[in-house]
Amino acid sequence: MRLFMDTANIDEIRRGAAMGVISGVTTNPSLVAKEGIQYKDRVLEICEVVDGPISAEGIAQTADELVEEGKRIAAWHENVIVKVVMTEPGLEAISRLSAEGIGTNCTLIFSANQALLAARAGATFVSPFVGRLDDGGQDGMEMVREAVQILESFHLPTQVLAASLRHTRHVTDAALAGAHVATIPSTVLFQMLKHPLTDSGIERFLADAKGYTAV
Ligand code: E4P
Repeated sequence: MRLFMDTANIDEIRRGAAMGVISGVTTNPSLVAKEGIQYKDRVLEICEVVDGPISAEGIAQTADELVEEGKRIAAWHENVIVKVVMTEPGLEAISRLSAEGIGTNCTLIFSANQALLAARAGATFVSPFVGRLDDGGQDGMEMVREAVQILESFHLPTQVLAASLRHTRHVTDAALAGAHVATIPSTVLFQMLKHPLTDSGIERFLADAKGYTAV
């Protein structure tokens, strides 16, 4: 499973990228709004830091407008993936953008059927929102498992990008469910590398190492 960062904060992205574990970034209008910067400017900065798919979301409503906006967004940089919400015009836009070779990420996916539709329309990625389904008392990870099984059974090339992940167990479960990608908030990414036994083990090694001089 590849790991993307789910943030528009450039300092967090630089820190994550420096560890060599990040293959892409997802953004959305809410994440960029928190940064107080123009969407295009931030996406271009991210493209300088991470050499992989960078999702940027449009806000148009009709299929024609979504296609026009999607082409503009895709022209920002060769690594930009156009995020399109799961609606009827969204599916038409994905199908038309995909026919022109433009990468798309169908977002706000809340069922395996929506994932199948987006895959059939030609989406590069589908983004099932695990945490938001969990919030409503449903099993978000089951949707990821079903989507992966369906797309793989029918040899559809669309990648399942587990999104709306809220804690470290979500990341493990997404990998076990076979998600091709997990997009992870920075707090969760940095928590993944921590374990109290690692910390106490380091303290003990350092304390014991005081008894000799390393060559
Ligand atoms: C990523 O593509 C999504 O926009 C993001 O994971 C949504 O996460 P949230 O449900 O925590 O807002």
